Amino acid sequence: MHDPIKSPDKSGHTPSLIERASEMYDFRKAMSLDASQLPEEPAAQAAAVPAPVPTPAPAPAAVSAPEPVAQAVTPPVAAPVAASVSAPVRPRASRLPVARIDRDLLRESAFIVPDGPVTSISEEFRIIKRRLLASVLAEANAGLGVAAQRILICSAQPNEGKTYSAINLALSIATERDHDVLLVDADFAKPSILSSLGISGQTGLMDALADPAVAVEDCIIPTDIDGLSVLPAGRQTNMDSEYLASARTLEVLAKLTEGHPGRIVIFDSPPLLAASPAATLAQHVGHALMVVRADVTSERALRDALGLIAGCNQIQLLLNGVKFSPSGRSFGSYYGYGE
Ligand SMILES: Nc1ncnc2c1ncn2[C@@H]1O[C@H](COP(=O)(O)OP(=O)(O)O)[C@@H](O)[C@H]1O
Ligand SMILES: [Mg+2]
Repeated sequence: MHDPIKSPDKSGHTPSLIERASEMYDFRKAMSLDASQLPEEPAAQAAAVPAPVPTPAPAPAAVSAPEPVAQAVTPPVAAPVAASVSAPVRPRASRLPVARIDRDLLRESAFIVPDGPVTSISEEFRIIKRRLLASVLAEANAGLGVAAQRILICSAQPNEGKTYSAINLALSIATERDHDVLLVDADFAKPSILSSLGISGQTGLMDALADPAVAVEDCIIPTDIDGLSVLPAGRQTNMDSEYLASARTLEVLAKLTEGHPGRIVIFDSPPLLAASPAATLAQHVGHALMVVRADVTSERALRDALGLIAGCNQIQLLLNGVKFSPSGRSFGSYYGYGE
């Protein structure tokens, strides 16, 4: 599948990245949904799809509803939760000093710059954020527990824009009044969140998973961007999937939101088709945002990747890509036009 990104239509409606992704990829096929269960007209509005449920058949409305992300779906809960969202736990203050995030680096890397000008990128991530936060609310109301507060950013292959999307989404959510965001580097083999933000740190999630003496809260780095903190990947090990699959993971992940009912935890992950941690993490999150890179991600790879996270409650697709017009004019890198 290498269809070009379409220009805005004549009505002036600008399709969002999620809408464009749904135009380019056959999600119904990718999710192996039975066409007879689906409405005649595919939803052009969004690429939010519920995980397929073996029995009973999934409600087709979840695909065709005008606001798919707000639709409560009823597959099994993504992960048992060890703490209630509303538990009156006093959050533990981080022991680490506040890290200063390099604004110039953000600008150079085409990330959203806090208090910077409104750009097409910041606008697109606003749309994506709104949908995800609506989904978070719907899942919390549906009783998903703390898993509702967790979002996995994943993709089939390397270099499709997972880290780029995770950082931009985190920066966008950090501006919310009712939420703060914890950005977790879960690409244990090739961590890049800290270097992308121009900060340093060592102890992280894998240390806390591997060693019960390490408190994960103590590894969280507060930043000088209001509402944003970062959890490094931690030690490198060839046992990362085994640690993630262990019983301790539930406890450690629960600590990330304990005392923070408004916190959104974003996991930047390794490629699904190259390493197993992303699929394991998918079992603990309420939402997965699958990044597809225009003209790069094949529908076959997308289908295989979706198969690995099929147990996740809510899966949305985000189209990432760079396009050039026939005249050679460069379009905006994220929006497809006019940056
Ligand atoms: N939309 C985009 N605009 C500009 N640069 C991008 C965009 N998407 C990805 N990149 C760049 O492409 C490279 C790979 O992206 P990255 O997010 O690191 O991929 P992944 O995490 O999936 O391996 C990085 O240098 C990143 O900054
Ligand atoms: Mg990455």
